[in-house]
Amino acid sequence: MLIRDGAIQTVSSFAEDVRNGLGQSRQKELPSKYLYDDVGSALFEAITRLPEYGLTRAEERILRQHSDDIAEHLTAHGMVVELGSGSGQKTRQILEALAHHKSMTYCPIEISSSALVSCERELDDLAQVSILGFETEYLDGLSKAVARRKPGDAVLVLFLGSSIGNFDREPAEEFLRRIRQAIEPGDMLLLGTDLEKPLTQLIPAYDDSLGVTGTFNRNLLARINRELGGDFDLSRFQHVALYNARERRIEMHLRSTETQTVCIERANFTFLCDETIWTESCHKFGRNEPAEMAKRAGFKCVEQWVDVEWPFAENLLVAV
Ligand SMILES: C[S@@+](CC[C@H](N)C(=O)[O-])C[C@H]1O[C@@H](n2cnc3c(N)ncnc32)[C@H](O)[C@@H]1O
Repeated sequence: MLIRDGAIQTVSSFAEDVRNGLGQSRQKELPSKYLYDDVGSALFEAITRLPEYGLTRAEERILRQHSDDIAEHLTAHGMVVELGSGSGQKTRQILEALAHHKSMTYCPIEISSSALVSCERELDDLAQVSILGFETEYLDGLSKAVARRKPGDAVLVLFLGSSIGNFDREPAEEFLRRIRQAIEPGDMLLLGTDLEKPLTQLIPAYDDSLGVTGTFNRNLLARINRELGGDFDLSRFQHVALYNARERRIEMHLRSTETQTVCIERANFTFLCDETIWTESCHKFGRNEPAEMAKRAGFKCVEQWVDVEWPFAENLLVAV
């Protein structure tokens, strides 16, 4: 069953965020959520299949091997809410394992309408699973979804793909706290976290030889041109992926290759040569860090599974 609910991001909030982010006198910045329009979501799917991007395959391996272990902890769970489901491909493993126990409602929460459509299509054939998608922001979707839980049903929240790493560390912990506040004691959160690893493995994952990640990054400027009437010349911005060792994160930037002025909605923005727009952060974690952070946010870690080929940890947390 496919039901659609929720509100979409408005053009005016996009315009305002772009104005604020590019109007800064210090580091120019754009929120990473805007990377995911229809084109961006398709490019992200392509990234997950690149040989350099081991993250998705690592999480797939963990879920393939441990879905039954996860399901054993979750016999009362009648609702699965996934924050930022993307295409939902990895989720199939979990839903299949859980649906052995009982029928359930699966609620993907997505800001990208095309990702939500793909997700619903991908999982539509699962018997025992009714799908209720919300096209909205993470926490808004979570509160709308849990408001529909049936009496006696526990909730499992999925936050996969190390999307938690897109937040700075303190906001990440605050985000976990907000998730905790939206659910009940005994509900669970499955949290995927990419671990620290050698830079020879990490950097190419965000700067691949085919240039797909660069295209994904530059699509944000193309989106501004399409939706806000901007006049970015994409050939004058270069994709940069760097590792910030102090913050233990990959940062994606777009570097202006010359001094130039760009017009968006009758406002002009000047970029100096080599000045960058910071578009995304992907924080990396020590092995014990997710459990410690979750504990401070009101969860207890009941299991952690780690992939050895591509250091990645899946953390099963219970709300206390
Ligand atoms: C890094 S991708 C991960 C997708 C998938 N969970 C995976 O593991 O492959 C992040 C997903 O979250 C969605 N997203 C990003 N920011 C969001 C927000 N604030 N609210 C809802 N969805 C968001 C994007 O559209 C995208 O599909």
